[in-house]
Amino acid sequence: MLKKCLFPVAGYGTRFLPATKAMPKEMLPILDKPLIQYGVEEAADAGLSNICFVTGRGKRAIEDHFDVSFELESSIAGTGKEEALQGIRGLIDQCSFSYTRQRQMLGLGHAILTGKRIVGDEPFGVILADDLCLTSEDEQGVMGQMAALYEQYGCSIVAIEEVPADQVHRYGVIAGEPITKDLLKVTDMVEKPEPEHAPSNLAIIGRYILTPDIFDILQGIPAGRNGEVQITDALLQQAQQGKVLAYKFRGRRIDCGSVEGFVEATNYCFQRMG
Ligand code: G1P
Repeated sequence: MLKKCLFPVAGYGTRFLPATKAMPKEMLPILDKPLIQYGVEEAADAGLSNICFVTGRGKRAIEDHFDVSFELESSIAGTGKEEALQGIRGLIDQCSFSYTRQRQMLGLGHAILTGKRIVGDEPFGVILADDLCLTSEDEQGVMGQMAALYEQYGCSIVAIEEVPADQVHRYGVIAGEPITKDLLKVTDMVEKPEPEHAPSNLAIIGRYILTPDIFDILQGIPAGRNGEVQITDALLQQAQQGKVLAYKFRGRRIDCGSVEGFVEATNYCFQRMG
């Protein structure tokens, strides 16, 4: 059973400067809820209630968000305003939170390896909070869909979606053999390829389930694309042993790491509210 979910949240969020100069990008709100809370809710709904943050300097607001805010809460106690805290209070009660710090930004693979100490020797989910994944009310969240597949297959899984050819350079891209209509066995994967070198247009989005042998692999690989330790390179080693699945998830994913995607997500969520 999967219990832990890792959130790499040490990144600087340079695409949102100056907003992220003194504030974590993960605390930017979509409507009235910070991005990170959407991700933690998705993990908790999937049964992954041990939340592991790989955090960094300037990210304390995330820790404070998942804790009581004593002065504020006592001042609004008994008023109608308390209602707005119901969701986050329930989430805090439901989950446990662990933190470790990534001291240098050496890539997503390095961030995940930094989480080894709090994850330990068990399979775990990874959520990149920038990728907001929304599903309809009667549908499981994306991590929940993947956790169900993990129960069945017991190997690493990446979530994928088709992207236009001129976008593949922004993602890890896979090639695979179909198992079912929405599941592939990964045969190749490349981090941020030029369109002419992309093995397909199936891009990895920010949802992973990883088996713990990934840590030893990460420890042994050299820096890859952009001089960073890439999770894609580590997963390729598992894939070469036939141990990685790629899953075409149900739902809508919006990249909130860019201002354009952030506005799109805001509008989309606002319309869904009405
Ligand atoms: C990371 C991964 C990439 C993946 C992407 C999903 O890239 O390295 O393989 O496709 O997340 O959001 P980043 O967006 O951190 O550059």
